[in-house]
Amino acid sequence: MPVEENDKSIVLRLASGATAEIYLFGATVTSWKVEGKERLFVSSKSALDGSKAEIRGGIPICFPIFGPPPPSPPEYAALQQHGYVRSQNWSLEHIIMDREEGISIRLSAPPPPAEFNHEYSLKYVVTLSPHQLSTDLHVVNTGKEDFKFQALLHSYLAVKDSKKIVVKGLGNGTEWQDKTDGLKVKVWDGSDLRITKEVDAVFRKVPGQEIVVLEDDGGSITIRFRGFEDSTVWNPQEKSGKNMIDMEENGWDRYICVEPGYVREFKILAPGEEFLGQQILTVPH
Ligand code: BG6
Repeated sequence: MPVEENDKSIVLRLASGATAEIYLFGATVTSWKVEGKERLFVSSKSALDGSKAEIRGGIPICFPIFGPPPPSPPEYAALQQHGYVRSQNWSLEHIIMDREEGISIRLSAPPPPAEFNHEYSLKYVVTLSPHQLSTDLHVVNTGKEDFKFQALLHSYLAVKDSKKIVVKGLGNGTEWQDKTDGLKVKVWDGSDLRITKEVDAVFRKVPGQEIVVLEDDGGSITIRFRGFEDSTVWNPQEKSGKNMIDMEENGWDRYICVEPGYVREFKILAPGEEFLGQQILTVPH
């Protein structure tokens, strides 16, 4: 069966051998394999059963905020870091396509917690093709007033050694916020990014909306995004990584987070309006 659902997750399998697994907890994609190689990192110390607030790895979804909560309004100020969606139990709504060249499923988020009194519909479409994984977040304002949110796909991309990768495509003149330097807003000079120390950078309006992670053995992964305009690049290295209780020993050497999102400000949807944020991950044929 190309789409298998058990009580915890959904597994997609293509005839090409590509597979993906999506946990209902947080609609977190926890595995994406192409030619037998795992392309996402999940910490071996991560709980996958909902006993912790999130899964440490894969592709958690940040919504309706990214990062720490804003000071106001009160229902946003009361939210946990990155919002609650990554720790909600989603459900499989529909198998959109189930063919040899691609499988596509749609998941549906439960309503928000009672304290967050906004009405919206949140769906997630995951599409697996032989060398590509697309993850699309659909938000519709189903309420009678404007609805504001931030959204981001927190992708932990597996690499052999984060200290040997090059991140390309951040643009020349792109404004970015350096969370390791008191949230200072700086201007990127067009160079490639390398991980020599902790990096926690939010790039605003990335031109071209295409970032490439290159490994020293020629391997690569391309991250394209639409609707999402910004992207975080995050790797804590030992400095902050060792303080994360669910991070495996030296886990920071085995991934780079490139996180497309709409996060430099709040996106405001009028009643009935829809937002589509798309991420497309591709590995070479
Ligand atoms: C990144 C943030 O996206 O997520 C970092 O930019 C943060 O500041 C990291 O530390 C992990 O967040 P969390 O809530 O999953 O520990």
